[in-house]
Amino acid sequence: MSALASRLVRWQVRHGRHDLPWQRTRDPYRIWLSEVMLQQTQVATVIPYYERFLARFPDVKSLAGAPLDDVLVLWSGLGYYSRARNLHAAARAVTESHGGRFPPTSKALASLPGVGRSTAAAIAVFAFGGREAILDGNVKRVLARHFAVRGYPGEKRVENRLWKLAESQVPAKDVERYTQALMDLGASVCTRARPACASCPLRASCEARSQGKVQAYPRPRPRKPVPLRKTAMLLLLREGEVLLEKRPPAGIWGGLWCLPEISPNADPRDYCRRRLGARLASARRLPLLRHAFTHFTLDITPVVCQVAGASPSASEPGQVWLPLEEAAQAAVPAPVRKLLNSLQAA
Ligand code: ADE
Repeated sequence: MSALASRLVRWQVRHGRHDLPWQRTRDPYRIWLSEVMLQQTQVATVIPYYERFLARFPDVKSLAGAPLDDVLVLWSGLGYYSRARNLHAAARAVTESHGGRFPPTSKALASLPGVGRSTAAAIAVFAFGGREAILDGNVKRVLARHFAVRGYPGEKRVENRLWKLAESQVPAKDVERYTQALMDLGASVCTRARPACASCPLRASCEARSQGKVQAYPRPRPRKPVPLRKTAMLLLLREGEVLLEKRPPAGIWGGLWCLPEISPNADPRDYCRRRLGARLASARRLPLLRHAFTHFTLDITPVVCQVAGASPSASEPGQVWLPLEEAAQAAVPAPVRKLLNSLQAA
């Protein structure tokens, strides 16, 4: 076993995490679900979502049999919704093409929607005792620092180098503990902004530390300024109900229920007349709400509109009027839920 691996394994026993809800199981369904939720999302955020999800969908069969909408409701607020759509598609693939059982090799696992090379390897290790290397964002940081790997890991050349290093360190035994150790070290000691080098089991061999340049690794994403987009979201209210619209299945917030959007310069009365054949009794702007996506920032101007009359204008397909309370519990993205909750509180 390499010095790095044996230090990590010993460290994990005393200082690593042992009681996360997806540990102490070999159920590939539970492990797969946790790994997908943990892509781009921190453990503390994931735990309540993970538990609610399992309570509703205890196995792959129940997930595969559910409508996508029910899955999106449980994902609502967790972000990166393509993960939920892929999760649902993968559950269907497992039931339809694999007889309801997750395939045990990382190669076959990686053919499931939403399961990349590192996620496949983590499932193979934790569920099937495989001997595979993982390389998620935390592990990239640990390895880039330990081996002083230059360059931005989003670049193929750098990523390939990191994969080679990751593969070279996987021990012959204790792979599970070693893998957990890498994740735990990246999350708790070798953090991006404030690494705790004094308590790191790898401090003696860390190249970045010996250069006195821990913070310089890994090189950050070359900063392109993210564009700013602006939109107005209409909270159309009628007799305690609010209008929601379903987004098309692909793209940002695909498949989620959202508020109707217009340009911030447009007049909500026009929207109302054209789309609902109704008049507005009042329209009032709320303070700007900023939402950060990976590739752009969205400035939202919420407009609370009282729709005049109780005319039960049949809503178009993909539109529903829902009581505020119900709307806030539907499959809506986080800023929409925030707005709906603020109206309920008011
Ligand atoms: N991040 C990704 N996978 C994880 C796991 N199994 N435990 C803790 N953090 C993780």
